[in-house]
Amino acid sequence: MPSPAALTRLALDWPALLAFYDRARRVLPWRAGAGETADPYRVWLSEIMLQQTTVAAVIPYFARFTQRFPTLASLAAAPESEVLRLWAGLGYYARARNLHRAARMIAAAGGFPRTPADLRQLPGIGAYSAAAIAAIAFGVPALAVDGNVARVLARLLAITTPLPQALAEIADAAETLAAAPAFRARPGDATQALFDLGAGICVKAAPRCPECPLRAGCRAERLGIAAQLPRRAAKPPRPERFGAQFWLTDASGAVLLRRRPGRGLLAGMVELPGTAWREGAPWAEAEALAAAPIAAEWRKLGAVRHVFTHFALSLDVYAGSVAAFPAADLGGFARPVAALADEALPSVMRKCVRLAAAARPA
Ligand code: ADE
Repeated sequence: MPSPAALTRLALDWPALLAFYDRARRVLPWRAGAGETADPYRVWLSEIMLQQTTVAAVIPYFARFTQRFPTLASLAAAPESEVLRLWAGLGYYARARNLHRAARMIAAAGGFPRTPADLRQLPGIGAYSAAAIAAIAFGVPALAVDGNVARVLARLLAITTPLPQALAEIADAAETLAAAPAFRARPGDATQALFDLGAGICVKAAPRCPECPLRAGCRAERLGIAAQLPRRAAKPPRPERFGAQFWLTDASGAVLLRRRPGRGLLAGMVELPGTAWREGAPWAEAEALAAAPIAAEWRKLGAVRHVFTHFALSLDVYAGSVAAFPAADLGGFARPVAALADEALPSVMRKCVRLAAAARPA
């Protein structure tokens, strides 16, 4: 906890922020309008989708998802493979699996937990999401600190400690600020007002301070350092990994796929068969082809690159064909190329498919 002296120095003009929200809130598909009651299912789903993902990227996924699963019960009743399929392309697939598990737990319990502590018992919900859902869906006075909110608070309070070390200081400040009566009166709106401020005004590189409802109380602005905050500790460089994937088709227009293991990166998602993804060096052609699902005339189509959080990946894509897939188990399953949009292919595999589709002779 901050010292009592520090507490007296912490202030956020919640009434000014709420007036900004009432005047200029974004219209978002999961958001209740003024005077409407939030739907916990939509709030929860949106908060899970928005973990690590931008609002613009989430909107079309949220629309498709809620069309297919309009209620918690419909999501709980669906097979996991269908949930993964609708999530494909959004990334961080553990979220989809946790979402589905949580849906079954909530349905079995007969409804959503309402406090941050109880929400955190569900898979996929950490401190941030628990606070956001409790505040937005249930009006619980908890302040969720995501990257946007951390930036706003670091500037407002001129916290110069670099991230991630500054997070503890920011969380303490958030707890103090959330004790204010004006926050406690409208915690969901105040939380979303901070999201909107961070997304539209207190933006990363070039904050639009003249438009900010909190400008008068912003220490970083007064010191002329708003654009430099929050500071960030230097990140270690991202390692490179290398692999090769195989696009094997038959005369009927089907392609060989396989499902990834149920644990680890891209768990349960669908992929083209391929080599391991290793650090150090690309796979020489002969070495890669030794891992091909079948001996065939393999042709190298090119490479795709995809950046994950903890590494960047370069994949060589090889194409081959057979008249018919052999009866022997190739470690996967065949699907018509024309139906690949219905498979739970992560973005990196969609890039491989696009490369293969562009290279196929007409
Ligand atoms: N970022 C995280 N949660 C959000 C929300 N509910 N609205 C807008 N941006 C968000």
